[in-house]
Amino acid sequence: MASNKTAVVTGANNGIGFETALGMARAGYHTVLACRSAEKAEAAMAAMQKKVRKGTFEILIVDLGDFESIRKAASEFRQRHDHLDVLINNAGVLDYGGRTAANGYEVQFMTNHLGHMLLTSLLLDMMPDTPQSRIVSLSSVAHKNGAIRFDDIHCTKPDKPDTAYCQSKLACLLFGDELDRRLKAAGRKLVSLSVHPGGSDSGLFTDMPRAQYYTLKILGPFITHSNKSAAQPALHAALSGTVKGGDYYGPQGLMELRGKVGEAKRAPQAQDADTAARLWTLSEEMIGEPFRLSAR
Ligand SMILES: NC(=O)c1ccc[n+]([C@@H]2O[C@H](COP(=O)([O-])OP(=O)(O)OC[C@H]3O[C@@H](n4cnc5c(N)ncnc54)[C@H](OP(=O)(O)O)[C@@H]3O)[C@@H](O)[C@H]2O)c1
Repeated sequence: MASNKTAVVTGANNGIGFETALGMARAGYHTVLACRSAEKAEAAMAAMQKKVRKGTFEILIVDLGDFESIRKAASEFRQRHDHLDVLINNAGVLDYGGRTAANGYEVQFMTNHLGHMLLTSLLLDMMPDTPQSRIVSLSSVAHKNGAIRFDDIHCTKPDKPDTAYCQSKLACLLFGDELDRRLKAAGRKLVSLSVHPGGSDSGLFTDMPRAQYYTLKILGPFITHSNKSAAQPALHAALSGTVKGGDYYGPQGLMELRGKVGEAKRAPQAQDADTAARLWTLSEEMIGEPFRLSAR
């Protein structure tokens, strides 16, 4: 029998999302694996069922780089469920190739930020008005090297190969904060929190230039932690009874890349409420519809 508590984890078929979904199932949540590949999602679900025998899982197909796919997934979720308790916006892509999504938007801004913003907007009214209802956004220490390039949002003139990734992860953090401010202003009781996982050897880095990729593979075990450890900030934000809306959590060890979960450090540009509000407006324009904050 499925639990009455339901969590959606995007990008749950691999890496940190896989471990996060397992953690939510262990905590008693019926866990929805929101993934773009049915084949990968089914393999992940089979592996999770072996690890959490009493867990219940379900697959929701969604490509976060495609607004139509997100609308279809949200509508499917609404047909299957009458509420959602926790939404973990975990899926992410790191691209060094200047790729664009099918609609022409820079792929990381589209997938990591805009796709999750639309998914959140389309599911928010299903979330009960209690502080146990949580939206968790995955940022990164890379946000510290990011800026929102309002005059070149698709990063057509990047300074470095990861300019657009850093921008997208700053956007995830600014979105998490701005969402919490707007929920409070709207009198809603559910909360938005942000986290970063530190560093872990997941599938994220396959696009890196080979020299950098292998350097990371060699140094990784000494400076980063496992995907299971990297999932702990998101699980803390989703499950702890001591967190507050607008909090930002991450590992406390060397360079914030590994260690126990605690309050994470924000770069100055991640504390700028004007930038967050401006990003919100631009994002609504790029998505093509206003964000839906209201309860049902
Ligand atoms: N690992 C780290 O060191 C690190 C550090 C800082 C932040 N993060 C963040 O942690 C999160 C999880 O990443 P990870 O390290 O676990 O990487 P990962 O192993 O590559 O997993 C990323 C997940 O996102 C999914 N995804 C990518 N594009 C998608 C799309 N268009 N639609 C739906 N799903 C999509 C992937 O699906 P496919 O398998 O189909 O590609 C995969 O399930 C990301 O937000 C990342 O930015 C990771």
